[in-house]
Amino acid sequence: MTRKKLIAANWKMYKTPEQTTAFFAEFLPMVAGHSRDEIVICPPFLDLHAAVEAARGSNVAVGAQNIHWAKEGAFTGEISPAMLTAIQVTHVIIGHSERRQYFNETDDTVNRKLEIALENGLTPIVCVGEVLEEREAGLTEDVLRRQCTRAFNGISARKAAKLAIAYEPVWAIGTGKTATPQMAADAHMVIRHEAEKAFGKEFAQGLRILYGGSVKPDNATALMSEGEIDGALVGGGSLDPASFTRIVKY
Ligand code: 13P
Repeated sequence: MTRKKLIAANWKMYKTPEQTTAFFAEFLPMVAGHSRDEIVICPPFLDLHAAVEAARGSNVAVGAQNIHWAKEGAFTGEISPAMLTAIQVTHVIIGHSERRQYFNETDDTVNRKLEIALENGLTPIVCVGEVLEEREAGLTEDVLRRQCTRAFNGISARKAAKLAIAYEPVWAIGTGKTATPQMAADAHMVIRHEAEKAFGKEFAQGLRILYGGSVKPDNATALMSEGEIDGALVGGGSLDPASFTRIVKY
């Protein structure tokens, strides 16, 4: 089965609305007509409107970096799925390691957020990955299995159709260290196996598993050539239009 790759930019807490508009003005002409891969930009919440306006009619989709698990309510500072879809945001990153590390995101909140994202027709990109101590202790597989099992809990294959996963080894994020294509492939196979247990073989074969962690123009080709890697979730390397274009066009 061929899986169309998803190349997603995670801008984290960078760029103002004005800088977002300027990015798209430079980026869109450089990727115009590029249909081999699906391209998504995930800016901070405040920039989503500017991004959606700038991307309208183009081959680039816009995603958020987080959502709340409730439909609405007294949750100061949070953003609901309906608020995102109301402005034509189509994708959402869930459970990024920085949210797990700094904002108390747990496997349970990831599960709840995944459920409501799917209910609202968003394409979720669920992040999983081990920290360095876990890798060194030989616990990578256990961690991935636990994160996947809990994230997928109670969700049917039919409902999960749009799901994508990003494998982001935490030790490779923002460090300049990358997993080798083989290390990523090994992790992706564990994730695919968990998806098969939860959703069935056919679903697992079609599931896109992205790699994230210091993806740069110089290593994108090697990583994207690995059959188990179905795209990239790019942090630092996505902030500059020329750099992200080189990654998209690996
Ligand atoms: P870097 O590409 O900056 O290592 O970040 C990876 C990441 O966390 C993407 O979500």
